[in-house]
Amino acid sequence: MTDIGVIGGAGYVGLVTSVAFAALGHKVTSMDLDIPRVRMLMSGASPVYEEGLEPILGELLTRDRITFTNDQYQAVQNSDAVFIAVGTPSLADGRADMSSVIDVAERLRDQIHKYTVIVIKSTVPFGAVNVISEILSLKLTEGVDFDVVSNPEFLREGSGLIDFFSPSRIIVGSVSERAQKVLRNIYQPLLEGTVIVDVPWIDSVQEIPYVETDVTSAQLTKYAANAFLATRISFINEIAGISEKVGGNIEDIVLGLGLDPRIGSSYLKPGIGFGGPCLDKDLRALITIAGENSYDPVMFEGVLHRNELQLREVMNKIVGALGSSLYGKRIALLGLAFKEGTNDVRHSLSIRLYRALRDQGASVVGHDFLAVQEAIELEPELEATSDLEMAIKGSDVVVVLNPEASYSEIDWRSLVSSGFSPYAIDTRGVLDVDALSASGITFYVLGSTA
Ligand code: UGA
Repeated sequence: MTDIGVIGGAGYVGLVTSVAFAALGHKVTSMDLDIPRVRMLMSGASPVYEEGLEPILGELLTRDRITFTNDQYQAVQNSDAVFIAVGTPSLADGRADMSSVIDVAERLRDQIHKYTVIVIKSTVPFGAVNVISEILSLKLTEGVDFDVVSNPEFLREGSGLIDFFSPSRIIVGSVSERAQKVLRNIYQPLLEGTVIVDVPWIDSVQEIPYVETDVTSAQLTKYAANAFLATRISFINEIAGISEKVGGNIEDIVLGLGLDPRIGSSYLKPGIGFGGPCLDKDLRALITIAGENSYDPVMFEGVLHRNELQLREVMNKIVGALGSSLYGKRIALLGLAFKEGTNDVRHSLSIRLYRALRDQGASVVGHDFLAVQEAIELEPELEATSDLEMAIKGSDVVVVLNPEASYSEIDWRSLVSSGFSPYAIDTRGVLDVDALSASGITFYVLGSTA
């Protein structure tokens, strides 16, 4: 059992990390500056939607295996390892904003009093580890040793615990054998498949690849992973665009493409583009890092450019369906979060689309199963509902932005018999085209000429 502190413990990554390490049997003190969130977590409620998190959190709280606090010292004083999982948003020039990480390091300088491994979970630029080490170096003169390690996370929002307990790999970057040993001990229960609470996704027979490397390689692996995922999405969006022009069917193309084991079928779903707090931010940071090191990242710039164009193409389809003036037209956007299965609306392309439509005078109604409250907090004028029927009734155009299974079950026939016949735009290939055709609704499916 290791005493672990987590800084930034109420955000997606910090919370999943805190709960998961506690479930592995470690004693976790999780710190966040957001007091309302800390209070919520202490009462067993999660401020973010993560599948299966609340029951595990409740059990760990009852057994006193996890504590949430807004006092960083409490999370650091007895900890052998302190995980930093604070946000690093993009600055206007594409660089990652390191100010929260630096603030944490400055507080740590006054707080660590024995050998401590500082583990960076946040995706930070390469120089960051040196910056943190420099801030903490004063400790060495006081006889307190430390190591700064990179342990990137590959968790997807909404299914973070599933990804934590069945990881495709664990990567630990440090040339310090002492620090590597601490991290190996922390991950040992996961590698052995042992947990202290009921976790449905843990598989004791799985072999989890465990990669030890240097700090820079660990960090670049994380950037490379997100850049690769973003590239696949822009790639398939571009193929979808070409397919549409020449009369192909993108669903069949993805099937045929994905059957090649060298390619595989995941991350090849076309849509409005990649949103969310990670892919775009990390790609921009990687482009900036390349530029700062006199390297021309032409391919990644193209990936970002396609992503921007993709949003415009969806906008053009709406304008194409309604004519040049959107004034007073009612448009239903199905899917407000940046993807399905999350309540996160940060960097959601649906929200960007909403703003563009609103600015052109359209009356927009948004639908989401999880993110209505968050969308309204971000955009107080947005009419948002989790009632699908209410969203689509009376709309001139219905635009599907997230691939929710329930969207395939919309009863178009009864909608038409109640006197409504919206134009349907499906950017995610989920609508039931046979039902649309049978009810006489005009529709467009991205990537196909249906
Ligand atoms: C992403 C990575 O998938 C995680 O491995 C990584 O740990 C995380 O970023 C991070 O850096 O923290 P996440 O941001 O939760 O995870 O979102 P994804 O599930 O990757 O989806 C990103 C965007 O791509 C969404 O807008 C989604 O709708 C879109 N997408 C995804 C597609 O358009 N097509 C696809 O086939 C897949």
